[in-house]
Amino acid sequence: MRGSDVNHGISFLFATIFVIRVLFGSAAQADESPHNNYMIHCQGCHLPDGAGKPPDVPSFPGQLAEFLRIDGGRAYLVQVPGTANAMLDDQAVAELLNWMVERFNDRPLPADFIPYTAPEVARYRSKILADPGARRASLLAGLSAQRQ
Ligand code: HEC
Repeated sequence: MRGSDVNHGISFLFATIFVIRVLFGSAAQADESPHNNYMIHCQGCHLPDGAGKPPDVPSFPGQLAEFLRIDGGRAYLVQVPGTANAMLDDQAVAELLNWMVERFNDRPLPADFIPYTAPEVARYRSKILADPGARRASLLAGLSAQRQ
């Protein structure tokens, strides 16, 4: 084999690797972004702006992050079936929730808010709620009592 053929072969190999990385590398990265995961896994029910379809699918804006202010609320956001059963790993769920509580909030997050982590999601996720509606109602009652 002549030297120039070898060079061409190597250039072709690098070009191919480059194309594969552009095609698949960036697609994989985009798929992992919280916004993308929201679009793929959640917005079918919750809608792009999080408005949902009350009373069946709750509305997120101005409401979602309120759960962080009450005992059990932080766990609830993970344990609700839509989150807990999502086809996403714990890290992706943590990033998704951290993104959602910012995205659908109209006032600053509680000053003591600590972002969700994968181990925390794993812990809550093992206990999916049997009756999310009842848990939601009791958390909301607790929140309104707190405000009085
Ligand atoms: C098939 C429709 C559907 C999909 C898809 C869905 N959800 Fe939900 N979600 C609901 C319903 C219905 C509720 C109300 C509680 C319940 O009955 O489960 C809810 C409630 C929630 C809540 C609690 C909000 C509140 O105000 O009580 C969170 C957080 C949530 N979903 C997150 C997600 C996330 C994250 C995804 C995507 C990974 C997702 N959901 C996908 C239907 C859905």
